[in-house]
Amino acid sequence: MTTVDLPLLPLGRGVDRASERGVECPGDLPAASDPELVARARAAKAALGERVFVLGHHYQRDEVIQFADVTGDSFKLARDAAARPDAEFVVFCGVHFMAESADILTGPDQQVVLPDLAAGCSMADMARLAQVEKAWDSLAAAGVQAQVVPVTYMNSSADIKAFCGRNGGVVCTSSNAEVALEWAFDQHGPDTKVLFLPDQHLGRNTAVLKLGLELGDCVVWNPHLPQGGLTTDQLQQARMILWKGHCSVHGRFTEQVVDQVRERIPGVQVLVHPECRHEVVVKADLVGSTEFIIRTIEAAPAGSAWAIGTELNLVQRLAKAHPDKQIVFLDKDVCYCSTMNRIDLPHFVWAMESLVEGVVVNRIEVDPTTQAQALVALQRMLDLPGR
Ligand code: 13P
Ligand code: SF4
Repeated sequence: MTTVDLPLLPLGRGVDRASERGVECPGDLPAASDPELVARARAAKAALGERVFVLGHHYQRDEVIQFADVTGDSFKLARDAAARPDAEFVVFCGVHFMAESADILTGPDQQVVLPDLAAGCSMADMARLAQVEKAWDSLAAAGVQAQVVPVTYMNSSADIKAFCGRNGGVVCTSSNAEVALEWAFDQHGPDTKVLFLPDQHLGRNTAVLKLGLELGDCVVWNPHLPQGGLTTDQLQQARMILWKGHCSVHGRFTEQVVDQVRERIPGVQVLVHPECRHEVVVKADLVGSTEFIIRTIEAAPAGSAWAIGTELNLVQRLAKAHPDKQIVFLDKDVCYCSTMNRIDLPHFVWAMESLVEGVVVNRIEVDPTTQAQALVALQRMLDLPGR
């Protein structure tokens, strides 16, 4: 059986100190793993050849993303997951909800592996099926359910996607939230309301900044309070019912750090992810998904200055790839996404070498009913016009 020392690497050993390379960031990324593991990962990948397809989200560590056949944001990875039907194994370097979506979108004979099962997402955990079912019943009791279209962000569990599939809803990502909301608001005429799960910030930012709704059209549903903490009148007036969830990384950027970076770096452009709070997004110059952030930096002229409000691995990678541009991390207190970072080289090598030996570890398998219903909502997203 394969043996790899699974990560007990002390933080700080061999740390890639971004500050020593002139890249501004609040902290250090975890240590790069033993170089010997790079050779083992290469050998395992070569041994598996076409049998394995490795997907890597942009927030993954450099040591892992170098082995990805395809990199992308969650929309691109969902689309790409289905692109290699002949691969027996799909190794997903990302978080649990992404691997679940890959299992739903790949064929029945393909097996999806998440190298560390602890790579979850705190935002996805903020909406549980039982809570959402209860909210749905409350909306019925308040007399508004028939007008409500559930829209869930990709960052949710498969059973929430299935809930949306069986209740006339759709999945969206940060790349296509605008077109998904337009689709949703078309479903029941002018009285349509959207229940947006689980990220209140993406929902609010898209509704207000892209669709032109007022902040007052949005209410926040707190799953821990009776009827979400809202009156029946508030529910009847609302157009967007935002689930009280957020990203524990992006939700920490503040308006103050935007002001501070503008003072520190004259002419800097602030580029943030739509999971950031509305007040932060309003103060920024540009907002968009991780793919949008990458494309913006690639197209930016040499000498331009950028403060980026998204996950640290991606910002550092962009800073390294574009030494002709000044790229800084927006904040001094925010850190990398700890669950994304759980996928490291020891886990990757363990998963890959196990496959070489014929052992599938950490398989992510969504049950057939959930899979079929979630696929309805995912397919509606994939069929939306545009990107
Ligand atoms: P995107 O990949 O859609 O930009 O989402 C970012 C994210 O937080 C993934 O967990
Ligand atoms: Fe979840 Fe935020 Fe981490 Fe993405 S960055 S996996 S939304 S906690």
